Amino acid sequence: MPAVVIVGAQWGDEGKGKATDLLGESVDFVVKPNGGNNAGHTVVVKGEKFELKLLPAGILSPQVTPVIGNGVVVNLEALFEEIESLSSRGVDTGRLRISANAHIVAPYHQTLDKVTERFLGSRAIGTTGRGIGPAYMDKAGRLGIRVQDLFDESILRQKVEGALRQKNELLVKLFNRRAVEVEEITQGLLAYAERLRPMVVDTTELLNSALDRGEVVLMEGGQATYLDVDHGTYPFVTSSNPTAGGACTGSGIGPTRIDRVIGIVKAYTTRVGAGPFPTELFDQWGEFLQKTGGEVGVNTGRPRRCGWYDAPMIRHAGRINGFTDIVLTKLDVLTGIEEIPLCVAYDVDGVIYHDMPMTQTEFHHAVPVYETMPGWTEDIRSCRTLEDLPENARAYVQRLEELAGCRISAIGVGPDREDTIAVHDLLPGPGEARSLPAA
Ligand code: GDP
Ligand code: IMO
Ligand code: MG
Repeated sequence: MPAVVIVGAQWGDEGKGKATDLLGESVDFVVKPNGGNNAGHTVVVKGEKFELKLLPAGILSPQVTPVIGNGVVVNLEALFEEIESLSSRGVDTGRLRISANAHIVAPYHQTLDKVTERFLGSRAIGTTGRGIGPAYMDKAGRLGIRVQDLFDESILRQKVEGALRQKNELLVKLFNRRAVEVEEITQGLLAYAERLRPMVVDTTELLNSALDRGEVVLMEGGQATYLDVDHGTYPFVTSSNPTAGGACTGSGIGPTRIDRVIGIVKAYTTRVGAGPFPTELFDQWGEFLQKTGGEVGVNTGRPRRCGWYDAPMIRHAGRINGFTDIVLTKLDVLTGIEEIPLCVAYDVDGVIYHDMPMTQTEFHHAVPVYETMPGWTEDIRSCRTLEDLPENARAYVQRLEELAGCRISAIGVGPDREDTIAVHDLLPGPGEARSLPAA
């Protein structure tokens, strides 16, 4: 013990990478439990910018063993590209370990992702086009290919054959594309096998033994609560479970071993791709947040949709994940706004909801009920304690804490690792009783 989970509380890009990096020096293992190279985490270390997609952000901390968990879907080309790019910048990637049970994203998954989106027309999800959905479909449909299959050529060929039989029908007859050759895929995957072999282990054994020894394991969730296939704004979601429960499944660490669940919350709201977004702004303030916050997707380069803070969403996220702590990010982006609106409830066709409405239709109709907080103009980037913050910024944070029903344990005031206000320890001390969620 202890095991700690990091979860995005909104629609992604809350700053999970920076939070993981912040804890990097105090943890032994960082495991990515879900998603694949659809993620995009920017970490700034002493002015140097790193962009991670498939690899956990923990790879940037020299003493951390980074782990790709069983719940991840791995695109091997993207994996080795990212490893090479980091290695060329002096990052030691030799400690990376990958679960033998993780699934593979094959080239046909990417093709299917793109043609399916086109087929959906106006109902398209706006996926990252990385083949994530089709790879998880194959996993659930028992047609997936796992990392371990690369070490048994005959099994691999059989599985590729099984997967392609149905897909080629779809590709040719429905989507008017060319059929994919079994041998081309099999050989393409086999080409990575020997490079992959030394990294592949039983990661559940690795992580649980580490916990037995008292080492610290951090689970770094990709995506976020409202992109969760069960709890998100379905169907405008990703195809994995980025919530805290998914972190257990995706890494093979039992829920009883988790000590902290840290929700990463942006001081406003952003979203990439399609789907409902009650506090979305279409005026100059949306543009202000987009520009000042540098809100452009790391993965696809799409501008992120921007809106005010949505308190009912965060309170609900706190419940379903069991947040013990919140890390509030990008408070500095709000500097200079005279009056900051924050959504405290929804008006759904005349009925006021203080919590998330039950149905997607109601959420689509939700009109935010705002209260406003006075803003501040002082540059807060150099603040390192709560007392350093201007009074109005402190009051904004306090109000968010009240509305979330969970303590805010750290506050981001800039992109660099150093630009952080530490309020409470994010990791439990030795022998410390686990903190129960306040939500
Ligand atoms: P992730 O996917 O949750 O890891 O988040 P992203 O990296 O996609 O997006 C967060 C962006 O905000 C990145 O560019 C970070 O460098 C940046 N960032 C993180 N925390 C802060 C903060 O407190 N202030 C500012 N200004 N930028 C931040
Ligand atoms: P990080 O980890 C923001 C969104 C896509 C799309 C939907 C489905 O950086 O927070 P997918 O390719 O997963 O099938 O796309 O999910 N999406 C993200 N949005 N941040 C992410 O990751 C995302 N990963 C997927 O834009 O709307
Ligand atoms: Mg991101």
